[in-house]
Amino acid sequence: MSFDLRTWMERAREEVEAALSQTLDAYLGELPEQLNEAMRYSLLAGGKRLRPLVVLAAAEAFAGAASRDNPAVMDAAIAIEMVHTYSLIHDDLPAMDNDDFRRGLPTSHRKFGEAMAILAGDALLTEVFAVLTRGSEPCRKDLCALFALHSGARGMVGGQVDDTTSEREDSVDFLDRVNRRKTGDLLALSAAAGGCAVGVDQGRIESLQRVGYLMGHAFQQWDDVLDVEGDPALMGKAAGNDAQQGKLTYPGLIGLDATRAAARQKIAEARSLIEPWMPRAQALMGLAGAMIDRRH
Ligand code: IPE
Ligand code: IPE
Ligand code: MG
Ligand code: MG
Ligand code: MG
Repeated sequence: MSFDLRTWMERAREEVEAALSQTLDAYLGELPEQLNEAMRYSLLAGGKRLRPLVVLAAAEAFAGAASRDNPAVMDAAIAIEMVHTYSLIHDDLPAMDNDDFRRGLPTSHRKFGEAMAILAGDALLTEVFAVLTRGSEPCRKDLCALFALHSGARGMVGGQVDDTTSEREDSVDFLDRVNRRKTGDLLALSAAAGGCAVGVDQGRIESLQRVGYLMGHAFQQWDDVLDVEGDPALMGKAAGNDAQQGKLTYPGLIGLDATRAAARQKIAEARSLIEPWMPRAQALMGLAGAMIDRRH
């Protein structure tokens, strides 16, 4: 039977949603009520769940469909969505992008106030390490190291700083460096974590990281395109904010057509790296394409 990406994604998404809910129930029952509410609000608000799907697809590429029964795989998938959601809550704050809508709802600080939004983000990030260490599989220590590397100062946080700072250079090279960390690192983490959870060797981890960086790069290029021409109703967030905030973006530097072409080129490169892992990498191959040519 031929592989159907849409069905694969639907099923994987359902499993991720169920695991996220269970995790919130298991860990978060005794929290201050407002913190609990704020964490749930953002985490369960929907979202494409692309990063957890990349974790599952990367694990499947090396360990087959049975990898889904490995608790470390699903824990890594949930954990990445928790990091990503925290990054979005903070990204939307008035001190950063100052956005009012996210995932079709008022942003966390609009709904709960800035203090609670900051704290909900802090709490989600911290809880990640409880999720990653709640089992006994030997890969879990390496997973923690990967999460810290790609999410923190050397990864996503460092990129967000570059995106926010006034010390910028209006060049594609500079923007490439910002995006590599701002968005690339969480996709590199997703791909690497999937492999790590099923025990692949260091060489494979590095190849997965390369694939993830390419996917992340293209993903952010497409996000910049959507900020210019996307439909806010479909995206669940405002359009036009990058220009309004004077952000350095690909469409701003090279125009929409060249940005789309650059994103397609990155995905073609990612696919050529995935090719040797076929046929078990079908989902990963399909997900690479889902980074671009999307409307939300
Ligand atoms: C938005 O990520 C942040 C970027 C890195 C551009 P997504 O577009 O994956 O957001 P959700 O998870 O679907 O809401
Ligand atoms: C966000 O990039 C990247 C992270 C949250 C790490 P953007 O600022 O472009 O994301 P959106 O457009 O607000 O979703
Ligand atoms: Mg931003
Ligand atoms: Mg933003
Ligand atoms: Mg954006």
